[in-house]
Amino acid sequence: MGNQYKRNILNEYVTKFTQEQVDDLNSRIKTTQDALQWVSDNLHPKVAKASSFGAEDAVVMDIMLKINPNFRFFTLDTGRLPQETYDIMDIVRKKYNISIEVLFPDTKEVEEMVKEKGMNLFYESVDNRKLCCEIRKVHPMNKILSTLDGWITGLRRDQTKNREDVTIFQLDHTHGGILKINPIVDWTWDQIQEYIKNNNLPYNTLLDKGFPSIGCEPCTRAIKPGEDIRAGRWWWEQDGNKECGLHIDPK
Ligand code: ADX
Ligand code: SF4
Repeated sequence: MGNQYKRNILNEYVTKFTQEQVDDLNSRIKTTQDALQWVSDNLHPKVAKASSFGAEDAVVMDIMLKINPNFRFFTLDTGRLPQETYDIMDIVRKKYNISIEVLFPDTKEVEEMVKEKGMNLFYESVDNRKLCCEIRKVHPMNKILSTLDGWITGLRRDQTKNREDVTIFQLDHTHGGILKINPIVDWTWDQIQEYIKNNNLPYNTLLDKGFPSIGCEPCTRAIKPGEDIRAGRWWWEQDGNKECGLHIDPK
């Protein structure tokens, strides 16, 4: 694809894409299967799926492993995840016989943050909450993405207003011009649930307890019938822009 190359901090080469290449991919490749097949043929093994072990991730991982059993997966263990998420990680690991790259936050950064602001700083202000997400999620994510040519998500357009414009392929400027691939971007929540049921996939048991969107334990609660699917995330915040920084618009 006539890629340019740049040297990253780990002294490896990662591929930089152009907007023209991304537009071309979006015009040619329209389905989940085709997108993941292209990723397998062109980016593997310098590509990995970011997984929080929610319903969307269960679906994407299953489709990926049917295409390429060697695809890579990583998860950001913030240290504050619910037990149910650790349980499903192990179930998935054994079911597919895969290894999952588990990334932890920098010890020093967490130590300094909690020393200064306390263990439950996120409830005190939006700035504190964003700092915690930055240290526990965004920094470890930046580290692994600096070694990859692309990463795969379980983002869907109808999850939030911020995600309405997401396309299958995106140029991820935030992470040095690599590719961000969102293969189920146009799936509905019903399609996700149907796929899980029809394929008998294991899933996070919090789903059956009213958690359609699952993050850290202190920052996620069950929703009531009729509530927005992400209403349980950072539920105490009034601002509609509930993002943790992993999915800042990559443009
Ligand atoms: S978040 O930004 O609000 O936390 P969300 O829970 O909707 O994200 O998940 C969307 C996608 O972000 C997931 O499908 C996954 O690709 C990625 N993601 C979110 N949390 C994590 C995590 N802890 N580890 C790895 N990937 C994650
Ligand atoms: Fe911290 Fe909550 Fe963000 Fe998890 S979701 S990293 S506990 S603020």
